Amino acid sequence: KILILDFGSQVTQLIARRVREANVYCEIHPCDMSEDAIRAYAPKGVILGGSHMSAYEESTDKAPAVVFELGVPVLGICYGMQTMAHQLGGKVEGAVEGGQAHREFGYAEVRARNHTRLFDGIQDFATDEGHGMLKVWMSHGDKVTELPPGFVLAASTPSCPIAAMADETRRFYGVQFHPEVTHTLQGQALLTRFVHDICGCGANWVMGDYVEEAVARIREQVGDEEVILGLSGGVDSSVAAALIHRAIGDKLICVFVDNGLLRLDEGKQVVNTFQTHMGMKLIHVDATERFMTALAGVSDPEAKRKIIGREFVHVFQEEAGKLKQAKWLAQGTIYPDVIESAGAKTKKATTIKSHHNVGGLPDTLHLKLLEPLRELFKDEVRALGLALGLPRDMIFRHPFPGPGLGVRILGEVKHEYADLLRRADAIFIEELRNTYHEGKSWYELTSQAFTVFLPVKSVGVMGDGRTYEWVVSLRAVQTSDFMTAHWAHLPYELLGRTSNRIINEVRGINRVVYDISGKPPATIEWE
Ligand code: XMP
Repeated sequence: KILILDFGSQVTQLIARRVREANVYCEIHPCDMSEDAIRAYAPKGVILGGSHMSAYEESTDKAPAVVFELGVPVLGICYGMQTMAHQLGGKVEGAVEGGQAHREFGYAEVRARNHTRLFDGIQDFATDEGHGMLKVWMSHGDKVTELPPGFVLAASTPSCPIAAMADETRRFYGVQFHPEVTHTLQGQALLTRFVHDICGCGANWVMGDYVEEAVARIREQVGDEEVILGLSGGVDSSVAAALIHRAIGDKLICVFVDNGLLRLDEGKQVVNTFQTHMGMKLIHVDATERFMTALAGVSDPEAKRKIIGREFVHVFQEEAGKLKQAKWLAQGTIYPDVIESAGAKTKKATTIKSHHNVGGLPDTLHLKLLEPLRELFKDEVRALGLALGLPRDMIFRHPFPGPGLGVRILGEVKHEYADLLRRADAIFIEELRNTYHEGKSWYELTSQAFTVFLPVKSVGVMGDGRTYEWVVSLRAVQTSDFMTAHWAHLPYELLGRTSNRIINEVRGINRVVYDISGKPPATIEWE
């Protein structure tokens, strides 16, 4: 396994994902990890990540000295290379020279030098003289200006003469560019070279084997005690449920709370998949009335979110209170959540999480926490779900917010609105799933798509009569991280068919509009 030390860069998570994509297990730890902890982790290689420090700030973070004494390969990336150079006796110079800032940011072409193991045979193209060239993503202010003893030059660009360095004897490498981002075309190849060939890690991090390992771990952890899990029907909680069920069978009890704000037939689908097909113990609580009553008269979005969160905790707690034997609370926490909250503690936080589905459950329930997905990235959670036999449709479903239709019905939430919205939304999703573009459905081609209920009435005609009914808006976006998003250029035919069907099939809606706002400045949800 590989150890990645985090100096606070936003892209450290990407390094971990690339390493895992090479089927090698790795973990991210803060750069001030103790010597004992590092020795106990016993990595086969160490990667020093970048830093968020701007060129004008002096970063004082150093790699723990022990990293260079373990006798294992070390790869420094960006700031990681600089601190490596500095700590091993080289020279790093600031970006400010003669009062002028020299920063390099963006594409660059680096030329490989001296045939190092890291670069040999990896290139995008060759120069006329036969030198290997790589297209890379550079982002740095400071740079290494003098190699530490024992190192040779491994790559250069005109503005960054030491763009990579290597000490083949000690197997220490440094790259000033970012191999973890996709803009660096050979980035995956370079990281794979490092972890497989240089560190000697086998490609043995595969989901099939992981299931057996994880099952054994869960059994050991919980013994024959009972576990409860709040099942939402989303990917994370579903995969966690399937995995724990594989490990302990009937000792797992799932609680599914229907808050009346779910999509059409969602409750039925969850019961069908988990209870009927997988044979799990499932408590299905229909708390619709309770949620609707609590939401009556409330139109502020944040107030609605709080009420929905609070009611969920109450309902869940009531159910958990009935299960006297339960000793564990299982949650579908995944690795990005773990890194984020750890990051917040060590002040190396780089991303801000704005939405939390369930808050405060563990403390108030006095249960031990079981989080079997804690070390997995989202794509690994999906692969695990497939390995466990969960339906593809469930695994690749678009994300759905915790407050559900509560934030897709603008203003006050009413039963009647939720019913209309559910039916309209089901039609939109069905059309997206059934309309293809170059072999893929529009459902797959969009990251998130849904319908929003606008509490606005407009005039229409139907037959000889005049109608005065509700409006819905369709929303479909494409995004890789949900932080920014483009509205999807859905075909007019698809939009037209969806609109016709909604207006004809859902009595009470007589107008359909399409939202063509990007994020930013609009958000994906309307509330
Ligand atoms: P926005 O609307 O902020 O949404 O662009 C970004 C992503 O977050 C989801 N979202 C939520 N998820 N509870 C959640 O669990 C919430 O309150 C919430 N609000 C937005 C949204 O669906 C999108 O995927």
